[in-house]
Amino acid sequence: MSKIRISNGEQFPVEMHKVRIVQKLNLIPIEKRLKAIIDAGCNTFLLRNRDVFLDMLTDSGVNAMSDRQLSSMLLADDSYAGSETFYKLEDSIKYIFEKTFFLPAHQGRACEHIISKVFVKKGSIVPMNYHFTTTKAHITTLLGKVLEIPIPEAYDINSSHLFKGNMDAKKLREAFIEHKDNIPFVRMEAGTNLIGGQPFSLSNIKEIYSICRENNVPLVLDASLLSDNLYFIKKREKEYQNFSILDITREISKNTDIVYFSARKLSSARGGGICTNNESFYKTMRELVPLYEGFLTYGGMSVREMEAMAVGLIDTMDETVISQGPEFIEYMTAELLKNGVPCVTPAGGLGCHLDANRFVSHIKELEFRAASLAVAIYIVSGIRGMERGTLSEQRDENGNEVISDMELVRLAMPRRVFTMSQIKYAIDRITWLYENKELIGGIKWDEEPKTLRFFYGRLKPVNDWPNRLLEKFKKDFKDSL
Ligand code: F0G
Repeated sequence: MSKIRISNGEQFPVEMHKVRIVQKLNLIPIEKRLKAIIDAGCNTFLLRNRDVFLDMLTDSGVNAMSDRQLSSMLLADDSYAGSETFYKLEDSIKYIFEKTFFLPAHQGRACEHIISKVFVKKGSIVPMNYHFTTTKAHITTLLGKVLEIPIPEAYDINSSHLFKGNMDAKKLREAFIEHKDNIPFVRMEAGTNLIGGQPFSLSNIKEIYSICRENNVPLVLDASLLSDNLYFIKKREKEYQNFSILDITREISKNTDIVYFSARKLSSARGGGICTNNESFYKTMRELVPLYEGFLTYGGMSVREMEAMAVGLIDTMDETVISQGPEFIEYMTAELLKNGVPCVTPAGGLGCHLDANRFVSHIKELEFRAASLAVAIYIVSGIRGMERGTLSEQRDENGNEVISDMELVRLAMPRRVFTMSQIKYAIDRITWLYENKELIGGIKWDEEPKTLRFFYGRLKPVNDWPNRLLEKFKKDFKDSL
């Protein structure tokens, strides 16, 4: 963020922005928090925001916008067809990705819907560095399969590997030999979400792209979390230290055939889009945009958000803008580790990720360790995190639970939203919870939806543990909220 030295040697990131609009927060008493989470079926997605103190559920659609973005929204050209705003957005896309053809869509999963409909059929196999929930759901709904081939370190929660989002090139070569005709595209995800916001290196995507070229199969980049990945390449990949963020972005894009993104993350606005230099791909995907999204010059988005996207994409090329998230996450992770709290290392982008398998190893796997920990964190702090583990999986063909490779609680760091004192509060409450971890118990299904069940499934505690946790909190924190 900034190279500022602190006189006593302490190290912490200093914000390179100031707050000009604020939203008031509430911290309701612990008794009310306990009632709120039980009423929400022990699912943090079902909490009402008025009951949440620090909303670390996600960075999606909740990043702070810049003054430049907000002011641009007033200039939006509101017309069904041919809006000037669309052309501004298209220009930003061309400038940063150097791709000629752009299709707007209302959010990231809408792009996945379009890409999957065009490329995936029954029996298709899509290799990727790791799946994302909505990506997988779109592919499997069309009876295709996801083949995850990250490097082995991706699964190692305590690793020092700087690019755990890399794809295993050898496994990709093997996949091409084994499934040659069934691979419609290969997908790389920037800032790999479900393994803790971990980046791929530029040299890795170059290698993966050359394998795709040899096999004449397109490489699709999910650039939703690109800003964090760009920061990590600049910081961690020696070869590209002297490249600007824009140069790195263009170099990545050059090694892809299709780029899509959720603008709820990339560009700190709300929307999405797909771009490519391949006219034939463009024309085939274009057929679906008016059908599912809206006319080609708005694609289901508000033009105001599109203005903000156009500016936000350019803002993303500024290192002092994109460094805030990863540097706050690194600070929070380092402090928690000092206190013994198990976290995913190295710290990635998107959020601080707690390792629930070690945090609450006493809870049975089928009683959802990460989801139970997310419940406990909300009760003791009012902080809303998100389960990224077994509950976020889908059951297998035989209806059995699939135990996730990782059992994480993600405490997302929406960009430029939280202050350092709020992060210190989070570190304190999570550390206290870790010291009292044996009081946390499991949860079990009450109502289980069939797909993307983590969004609105309802669960309940297996016993009276939430009350015991509340009692210990009252004893230790007395009249504190
Ligand atoms: N790809 C990645 C890597 C994502 O993280 C997301 C969303 C999507 C695609 C879908 O985009 O939400 O705009 O439809 N991730 C959000 C999250 C939901 O909280 O991590 P969307």
